Amino acid sequence: MDRILVTGGAGFIGSNFVHHVVRNTEARVTVLDKLTYAASEASLAELPSDRVELVVGDIADAEVVDRLFADHDAVVHFAAESHNDNSLHDPSPFVQTNIIGTFTLLEAARKHDTRLHHVSTDEVYGDLELDDPKRFTEDTPYNPSSPYSASKAGSDHLVRAWVRSFGVRATISNCSNNYGPWQHVEKFIPRMITNLIDGVPPKVYGDGLNVRDWIHADDHSSAVLAILRDGQYGETYLIGADGERNNLQVVKALLAAFGRSEDDIEFVTDRAGHDRRYAIESGKLRSQLGWSPRFEDFEAGLADTVEWYRSHEEWWRPAKQATEAFYASKGQ
Ligand code: NAD
Ligand code: DAU
Repeated sequence: MDRILVTGGAGFIGSNFVHHVVRNTEARVTVLDKLTYAASEASLAELPSDRVELVVGDIADAEVVDRLFADHDAVVHFAAESHNDNSLHDPSPFVQTNIIGTFTLLEAARKHDTRLHHVSTDEVYGDLELDDPKRFTEDTPYNPSSPYSASKAGSDHLVRAWVRSFGVRATISNCSNNYGPWQHVEKFIPRMITNLIDGVPPKVYGDGLNVRDWIHADDHSSAVLAILRDGQYGETYLIGADGERNNLQVVKALLAAFGRSEDDIEFVTDRAGHDRRYAIESGKLRSQLGWSPRFEDFEAGLADTVEWYRSHEEWWRPAKQATEAFYASKGQ
């Protein structure tokens, strides 16, 4: 794979993936990104210009997509509307980008016989009870809760249908919650860290007992690269790093890092339809492709992430005020 097209490569995980590819392969990368509010060209700024090119465009624009697919050996598809809270406010761009956009890429993959990896989420499986001994596996039935997760589930089904009906050479991965550098301040961990930097209380939805299964974005990237190289067409791989923590545990670790009291937590209006728990069983990926995470200690990875936000205020500051105004309007 000499030339890889990465959709959504100016977003959080996409940009981490592009950095990972540049560090670990010889491939040249083209990023196709619409540069929505969630994107940041600065996330790609330090990368060598002879290895990485940015094309500003929409994955639902068949003309642009067709031209780019003709020139690339493989496509890794990260582009999406990704935030659950936004999908509750206005689901429309989620349907447009996540479903119509993925459809557009699949039609181009069919026409050019291009290898495609589709990046998806564990949220397509719905949620688990806190005391359920089971975790999600590749065989868990789809049961999405939010407009975001339903739109991602729809995109996964399209990929599966294009593999079966048209022989498109695609794989799918469903990953748990990512953390790390270049994550937008609307998301939980960056919002809590940047609130603490600003001396504002961390805002926890509901009772704070919801569990997420945290994985560092660089480990998600290494897993996607392993699947792109050695995954079997038509197969789904779950990606996770055994990082289950409830939201209060995460916030308490952050408060300790800032030398603040646990009494500083502010409990705010819960998210509608809030999924209780996600948990990933990633044995297939580990045993079949030999993958394992580098960041096995979540608290150490979280401490690195705190340091990154402390030292990159110029990167996150421009989005902070508008993000907080949006949350304030919903009592969050
Ligand atoms: P993000 O919101 O940070 O980035 C999304 C990127 O896609 C942005 O750069 C945006 O400009 C771009 N984009 C949006 N609409 C576009 C369009 N129509 N055409 C071209 N580009 C467009 O998202 P993220 O958190 O980096 O997530 C990336 C992918 O990984 C998504 O598919 C998401 O569903 C999946 N995922 C995310 C997580 C997580 O914890 N964040 C976990 C599992 C899976
Ligand atoms: O599981 C994978 C998914 O993880 C991805 O598919 C999504 O793209 C990604 O955004 C993420 O979804 P979540 O909804 O789990 O992430 P979020 O960061 O929005 O919230 C994490 C948890 O923290 C969730 O239980 C809601 C809670 N929360 C969130 C915010 C923003 C709070 O308690 N307070 C907050 O201010």
